[in-house]
Amino acid sequence: MNILLTADLHLLRGTQERTLLKLREWIARYRPDALVVAGDLSSAPQAAETLKNLRHCFLQGPIAVCLGNHDFWMLEDSSAEPGSLSGIVERYWLPAAASLDIVLLDAENLRLPELTIVGGYGHYDLGFAVPHLAYDGILVTEEDYARGAPPSGGTLRWRDFQFMPCDRPPKEIAREQVDGVRERMAAAADSRTLVVLHTPPFEELLGVPPVSPVTAESAPSVYAFFRAYLGNRSMGVLLRQAQDNLLGVVCGHTHRCAGPLNLGRTIGINIGSDYGVPKAALLSLDSNRFERLPE
Ligand SMILES: [Fe+2]
Ligand SMILES: [Fe+2]
Repeated sequence: MNILLTADLHLLRGTQERTLLKLREWIARYRPDALVVAGDLSSAPQAAETLKNLRHCFLQGPIAVCLGNHDFWMLEDSSAEPGSLSGIVERYWLPAAASLDIVLLDAENLRLPELTIVGGYGHYDLGFAVPHLAYDGILVTEEDYARGAPPSGGTLRWRDFQFMPCDRPPKEIAREQVDGVRERMAAAADSRTLVVLHTPPFEELLGVPPVSPVTAESAPSVYAFFRAYLGNRSMGVLLRQAQDNLLGVVCGHTHRCAGPLNLGRTIGINIGSDYGVPKAALLSLDSNRFERLPE
């Protein structure tokens, strides 16, 4: 049994044709038994159209997706925006997924004969933030991270804070995401499990170079600030406590490839697709191995 894994397809109108073509090519060539997408499919208002496009690429087989931060974005019609992530899931993604027989991992597991796929969006708990980060001698605070912009001002802002419902601090949303995955992992019981998340749970899967501690005198770029939004470290703590039946962990979000690499008791991979440049891997359940597919 082989599972095709991809992420960050960003199927936006205008740029999606090339990406869908690539997906159809992979499916025709490798004939996977299931298709999994680790988030950033498109945006909330495009949920139905996006899932329909995915289903058209893989008419018969099981499909499981988790959501990404972009999938909560309300690019149009923000006046009618549900005020919470769960509101967006219920209004946009759940009805579309149900009508196309696609498993939304944020809500339920996909049970296959040899494997249970468990997952969810993940969010960021600021656990990968650069310690003691400062701009012009002013230390970055949790309030700065909750606003999405460094204290020095400037125009660059982490755009989730503009387009996603941010009803609560990031850490709280991140904790709720960990709780959801914990519950769904418990429901998988002792079945072999693959965990699919949008945001990386481990530093090794960020795919970006480590940042050395920054001194108050230096002038870090805004990207040092944005590192806080790259993943959910508490999710990694949960996964490290998981039992031996955790076969692997798949993620995306940073648009940087990492792995497949050995994480001790499990294997991790960050798919690393970028806009219009989709990437994928094949998981073989016979050999328990991830293999990256040629682009
Ligand atoms: Fe993305
Ligand atoms: Fe993302």
